[in-house]
Order: sequence, then structure tokens, then C-alpha cells
Amino acid sequence: MVTTMSSRVESLASSGILSIPKEYIRPKEELTSIGNIFEEEMKEEGPQLPTIDLKDIESEDKEVREKCREALKKAAMEWGVMHIVNHGISTELMDRVRVTGQAFFDQPVEEKEKYANDQASGKIQGYGSKLANNACGQLEWEDYFFHLAYPEDKRDLSIWPKTPTDYIPATSEYAKELRGLATKILSVLSLGLGLEEDRLEKEVGGIEELLLQMKINYYPKCPQPELALGVEAHTDVSALTFILHNMVPGLQLFYNDKWVTAKCVPNSIVMHIGDTIEILSNGKYKSILHRGLVNKERVRISWAVFCEPPKEKIILKPLSETTSEAEPPLFPPRTFSQHIEHKLFRRCQEALEKK
Ligand code: OGA
Ligand code: NI
Repeated sequence: MVTTMSSRVESLASSGILSIPKEYIRPKEELTSIGNIFEEEMKEEGPQLPTIDLKDIESEDKEVREKCREALKKAAMEWGVMHIVNHGISTELMDRVRVTGQAFFDQPVEEKEKYANDQASGKIQGYGSKLANNACGQLEWEDYFFHLAYPEDKRDLSIWPKTPTDYIPATSEYAKELRGLATKILSVLSLGLGLEEDRLEKEVGGIEELLLQMKINYYPKCPQPELALGVEAHTDVSALTFILHNMVPGLQLFYNDKWVTAKCVPNSIVMHIGDTIEILSNGKYKSILHRGLVNKERVRISWAVFCEPPKEKIILKPLSETTSEAEPPLFPPRTFSQHIEHKLFRRCQEALEKK
């Protein structure tokens, strides 16, 4: 693959530029809402996304268990995003994932280029940066590494980072743990809709077909952070998303018509309800709009694991148990890939209308 210096945001960031190329500058309507993320994170007023303690999710004591599950259900309905703590994944393992992912990115860009993806030829796994694909040519201030992490028989370990050597063991073990956690969460969400415990798990593909995709987001320091976004406003298409980060703030959630800055909660995992569960639940569980800010002072890294249904095998639509005459289906039937296609199409339409 031919790569120019500026194709990686990291190279651009380290080139010493004082102002960013125009492709990274957000439209003026959006600029008014972008502030200094460190100042935003310190503010104490206003709503904050819930922190859900999962310690009692499988308690023997029915009352204790119900209280925990009710809190999770409520957060999924009101916010669709939350910090989860006591999730059962050890701090040691999360640290190994962070240390090895950061060590991979600490290598020179030339080393990482050996893992470059090639979107044009359909090779979506590997090291990459967003290509200007839409009408407006808008870019985001990040590079990333993307690969399928689970089920194990669908992985292509040959494209995973070889250095550091603990990357593959740590990331494999983490994905496996998250897969178990996803089952538990999906069962609580199923019961919360009055469904059989294993229903949502089955609806998103079950153990064979639900895919866990790892995306390490690398947000370099930005000389003009108030003009750019690391990741633009979007909802996740996944069923569930689990995010770790390096304790540098950046994530914002669009809640009650305002951008709310997520605080950094040590050892928590940020969990999103994605569009897939929103559709299956007919909007009872929310897929919240969110974005990522960047800053001048510290590199931010996040590890997002998207739990996705198979692209073509399943038609996603509101489950009949979640609809009624009073609550008609809010979403038309679409495969996961049609859903992604539809969102892209809508986005392009909007971009064209703005021109
Ligand atoms: C994403 C995302 C936010 C973050 O990758 O979909 O929303 O905190 N990332 O990096
Ligand atoms: Ni997201």
C-alpha cells in the first residue's frame, strides 16, 4: 500500500504543525459545542452517566439479585450507556490489555504500517485511519487498530500485533472474558423485557455467530483540539460495546439535548447499548449518541470491543413481544449490513443537504 506521511494522524501530529488541515475542522454549527475536555471533565454540575455495580448480578439471594438487575435495566433504558464496576474482569487483565495495546502504538509509524489495512480491497482488519469517504471529506483526529477477537475460530491471528508478545494472549483472554460478561448482560436485558433469559443472546447470533470486534482508538495530541473531534457523533451499530481507556477524558454523551462528559472511573468498563439491541427492544433500550474529544496535552487511547450480530444471517426487527397496538414497531426489518448501509446513506444525504 502506498502511504503518504499525512495519511496517519500520528505523523501529522508529530510534524510540529500549529494549525490542523481543514479536513479535520468541524462545521461551524458543531464548533460551538466543543470545549476543553479537561475543564469539562472537572465540572460537577449536570447529569452524569450511571455507574452500575454488577457484584450481585448472579447473587443467590433473589432480592439482592433483582436490585442489581433492576439498576442495570434502568440505566439501559434511560441512558443506554454506563460505567460498569465489579464486572468480574480482573484489573491485572485489563492492565495487560492496556499495556500491550499502548506498547504496540508506542512503536514507530513505519513499524505499524506493516499492519496497514486496505479498505479498498476489503481488508478491513489492521492499522488504519479514516478515509474521507463522504461528500464533505470530513476527517477525524485518530488512528486505530481493528481486528476480530472472538469467536476464536474466526480470528486471523496472523494480522494481530506480534509485538509486544503478550498482545495476543492478553487480548484473547480479555475477549473471552467479555464474551462471558455479554451473555450475563444480555440475559438481564432479556428478563427486563419479559423475555426468556437466553432470548437476546440467541437473537444476536449466540455463541457461534456473535462477533467481538476489537478497535483500539489512538487519539494523538491535537494542536487545535477545539476545532476537531477524535470520533464524530454517532451511535454504535453493535448489540453491546465495552470500552476501556487510558484514563484520559474524551468521551461525551448526548443526553437530554446536551453533551455530557464522561468522568474517568478507575477499573470501570464503559458499556454501551448499541443499535442492534435498541431495534430488538423496539427502542426500550437506548443506543445513545456519543463522540470523542481530543486535547493538546495527552495522547488518549481507548479499547472498544463491539459485540455484533452476523452481517447477513439475521434480520433485525423489534421482537413481537416488545410491540403492541399502542407501541408499533419503530424500526423496519433490516439485516445488520443493511442497517449500516442505511445509516451511511442517511449521513451522505445530510452532508449533501448542508452543502
Ligand atoms: C467508538 C467510540 C469512544 C471512545 O469507537 O465507537 O465511540 O471513548 N469511541 O474512544
Ligand atoms: Ni462509539
